[in-house]
Amino acid sequence: MKRVILTLIFLIPNISFASGGVQLQHANNDITDKASLQQGAKLFVNYCIGCHTAKYMRYQRIGKDLGLTNEELQDNLMFSAEKVGETLDIAMDKDDAKKWFGVIPPDLSVTARSRGTDWLYTYLLSFYLDPSRPNGVNNLVFKDVGMPHVLWERQGWQKLVDHKLELVNKEDEAKAKQYRQDVRNLVNFLDYVGEPNKAARYDLGWKVILYLAIFFLFAYALKKEYWRDIH
Ligand code: HEC
Repeated sequence: MKRVILTLIFLIPNISFASGGVQLQHANNDITDKASLQQGAKLFVNYCIGCHTAKYMRYQRIGKDLGLTNEELQDNLMFSAEKVGETLDIAMDKDDAKKWFGVIPPDLSVTARSRGTDWLYTYLLSFYLDPSRPNGVNNLVFKDVGMPHVLWERQGWQKLVDHKLELVNKEDEAKAKQYRQDVRNLVNFLDYVGEPNKAARYDLGWKVILYLAIFFLFAYALKKEYWRDIH
């Protein structure tokens, strides 16, 4: 018991380091919500794919999982691809990226798994104006980030006041509220991309447990029957 408590105590600073000491907000996303996944996919191809790839994912697979026909895929998501069998991998030239941002934007196929959905959610909500940075913004959970705040028009600008984020214009409050939903949809899509079978796995999981529970009842009854005369 002592050891468990000690391990937990050692883990606490690691958890807070992972987010630069900032309390992460809960993404509360739901990978079974297809409407949310579709919205997220749309945001991703409109705002992220110019710089990032998700090269382990094919449009066709997205269409199948999100319930979209090939025409719907082509009209709504495939601005940078011709065939549904293509992967989401038109990235910018690596040398250009290095010149512009100092780093190459990483592939986002498994970022939801490596960083966690709460981190992603908080990250996309935590850009703020910082004139000392080359692109004018910084991020609370990713100090000195090389990525510009590409979704600023949907959120409104934020500034840092006493280590807390505040909207520069109070009138942007309604917009910022909608933005939190946008980000939830986007994180939901990235969570799905990180493990497209997750929903099916969860669905199968409870069926297996139910099967085992019913099987246990039969096995127990059988055991009682076998041992009845021996006791
Ligand atoms: C203009 C180019 C550009 C666009 C557009 C862009 N990003 Fe980025 N992004 C970057 C760069 C550059 C980095 C690397 C930052 C660093 O390492 O300092 C980055 C890093 C990230 C990271 C951190 C990855 C990690 O694990 O370190 C995430 C998550 C991310 N971007 C998500 C997004 C999402 C979601 C969108 C679309 C809404 C998006 N980005 C659009 C340039 C871009």
